[in-house]
Amino acid sequence: MKAEALEVFKNRRAIRAYKKQQITDEELDAVLEAGTYAPTGAGTQGCKIIAVQTPEYVERVDALNAKVIGKEGHPYYGAPTIVLIFETSECKTHTLDGAAVCTNMLNAAYALGLGSCWINRCQQMFEMEEGKQLLKEWGISEDLVGVASFSLGYPDCEHPQAKPRKKDYILKV
Ligand SMILES: Cc1cc2nc3c(=O)[nH]c(=O)nc-3n(C[C@H](O)[C@H](O)[C@H](O)COP(=O)(O)O)c2cc1C
Repeated sequence: MKAEALEVFKNRRAIRAYKKQQITDEELDAVLEAGTYAPTGAGTQGCKIIAVQTPEYVERVDALNAKVIGKEGHPYYGAPTIVLIFETSECKTHTLDGAAVCTNMLNAAYALGLGSCWINRCQQMFEMEEGKQLLKEWGISEDLVGVASFSLGYPDCEHPQAKPRKKDYILKV
């Protein structure tokens, strides 16, 4: 069991091509639950995780991220699921909490045989009018601050190789 977890941490890679087929509800729930068990500063659980699967909303989030970049394209690589992580409270560790929540879910996705890729610009997306409008339509507070997001689905590519780790990554003193 221990060895399996270490293999997951080492072998998870960013996946940038997805099958159109949606993942199962069980797979989604397992990934999301892993996020809720991430460490958070002072145990505040101060994040909100939003799983986007309605095709219209997936398209709108994808388009919004492309708008932040400033060019046409599909930043979520056509994945059928997008997961968004928000900060919900005046918490000093919100960015760190969100990163921990996101990383737990990426590793869980790989453990389940799914592909995922962390996608940047979540904060900027939900500072824009279109982002605030989405939050309104989803019936949640427009005060949420976007922290992280990722694409999720069945990989439609060879599993990428990790780059060699840099020599001075670790110092033991
Ligand atoms: C904070 C952060 C933001 C990222 N943003 C993007 C992104 O916008 N688009 C993308 O394709 N990959 C993005 N990535 C994925 C990285 O490019 C990827 O993790 C890195 O190249 C290492 O590859 P690996 O995840 O396969 O080990 C992001 C990763 C992190 C941690």
